[in-house]
Amino acid sequence: MTLGRFPATRPRRNRQDDFTRRLVAETTLTVDNLIWPIFVMEGTDTQTEVASMPGVRRVTLDRLAAHVEPAAALGIPALALFPITPTSLRDAEGTEAMNPDNLMCRAARVLKREFPDMGLIGDVALDPYTDHGHDGLIRDGYVVNDESVAVLSRQAVNQAAAGIDIIAPSDMMDGRIGVIRRDLDAQGLTGTRIMSYAAKYASAFYGPFRDALGSGGLLKGDKKTYQMDPANSDEALREVEQDLAEGADMVMVKPGMPYLDIIRRVHDRFAVPTFAYQVSGEYAMLTAAMDHGWLDRDRTMLESLMAFRRAGASGVLTYFAVDAARRLRGG
Ligand code: PBG
Repeated sequence: MTLGRFPATRPRRNRQDDFTRRLVAETTLTVDNLIWPIFVMEGTDTQTEVASMPGVRRVTLDRLAAHVEPAAALGIPALALFPITPTSLRDAEGTEAMNPDNLMCRAARVLKREFPDMGLIGDVALDPYTDHGHDGLIRDGYVVNDESVAVLSRQAVNQAAAGIDIIAPSDMMDGRIGVIRRDLDAQGLTGTRIMSYAAKYASAFYGPFRDALGSGGLLKGDKKTYQMDPANSDEALREVEQDLAEGADMVMVKPGMPYLDIIRRVHDRFAVPTFAYQVSGEYAMLTAAMDHGWLDRDRTMLESLMAFRRAGASGVLTYFAVDAARRLRGG
């Protein structure tokens, strides 16, 4: 074609009306792609809003079924459970994590009874249970690896025994997937899946989550000796490779929106179910702008979630899950 002639190839032709746009769309976002993180707390007949996460509530167990009902009715496939442990039950060793009647286990039993078809994802890390807010055990001021893994594995078995379907280690200790898989199998929990937080970064975007859990004020120092450096991307591939070799069924990248490049690389390289966590700080950032009227709520929410799918994610853990599901169902 000679320069200056009107182009025969016109990408805009395929954008001119809705039916064509729908025909050529490369990516879909459906309710099946959504996982809803929820916060449970002790007490009765109470719910409190997380100040830095407008619209996100902590609920007591007697209110849990009512809280989850809309998600179940909309067909959201799975929930990720996070317990708020009273300070009086926290200690340096995270002992409460192994209690078969801890809040997480009781919540799992309530949910399995009320919603037998709903998938339950249990976060494995000691930070909801330690008085220092770290994900593992501290010896001489350092979060130690192997001793932490032994405890994390007991936490995982405890959760699986209570009915958690998918164990999601978010602690970033080395070798924990292999140990957890071995110990689950030894207990006959061979069907329990593992969704590894394989590439989890030491991120400032977790701030509001730590407010939600009440672990933010407790945290001494930072998590940089175990969570990944935001500067690194090749290292994420090595983390994922190792977790898959140890038996992970699915992997996760976290945070989400600032790390879409990592999702893309992981999915291209390994072709395994890859999940993304649109974390608390991303939710806080978006809702702050939405609540000011600076961003259109529905469109921004759905675009942000579609971006994860385009990057290669099978699904997204998102605090928008129920709202997004409603929109996707045409509500
Ligand atoms: C626990 C854990 C964290 C998040 C999920 N699991 C916090 C942390 O690592 O400090 C963050 C989730 C969010 O910010 O939405 N290890």
